[in-house]
Amino acid sequence: MKTALILNGPNLNLLGTREPQVYGDKTLADVEVLCQQACATHGFALDFRQSNHEGVLVDWLHEAGRAYASGSLAGVILNAGAYTHTSIALHDAIKGTGIPLVELHISNVHAREAFRHHSYISPAAKAVMAGFGVNGYALAIAGLAGLQA
Ligand code: DQA
Repeated sequence: MKTALILNGPNLNLLGTREPQVYGDKTLADVEVLCQQACATHGFALDFRQSNHEGVLVDWLHEAGRAYASGSLAGVILNAGAYTHTSIALHDAIKGTGIPLVELHISNVHAREAFRHHSYISPAAKAVMAGFGVNGYALAIAGLAGLQA
């Protein structure tokens, strides 16, 4: 069974209390449960992580690259939070490892402030998911399953 690695960036540990009108009232623990269910449906093992630190996310992408090369990883779903709009380091890590990666946003970033309209992740991503609320995580897992064929 291959693993789906779900990485969450800065401030996503605040889900549930953080701007609920934008991100909803589900906590990150709730999102992990939702991902467990979706992974069970699609035959993936789940590895679910969150960090507020850019370098930690880079290290996890490198680890994912090694796991993908060894055949144990199906791909990565990354909600990079605000690093989406700032991080050339994350862009380079995705490109450098060659992992299939789905960029994910809970909100529709294109309907929000102009500074959220540019993503350093998108040009390195296989697919992009935005605006479905936390249910987007389950949709992205289904999408990752579709990419396996
Ligand atoms: C986000 C959108 C980003 O612009 C923001 O900085 C986040 C969350 C989302 O899931 O909608 O932290 O990635």
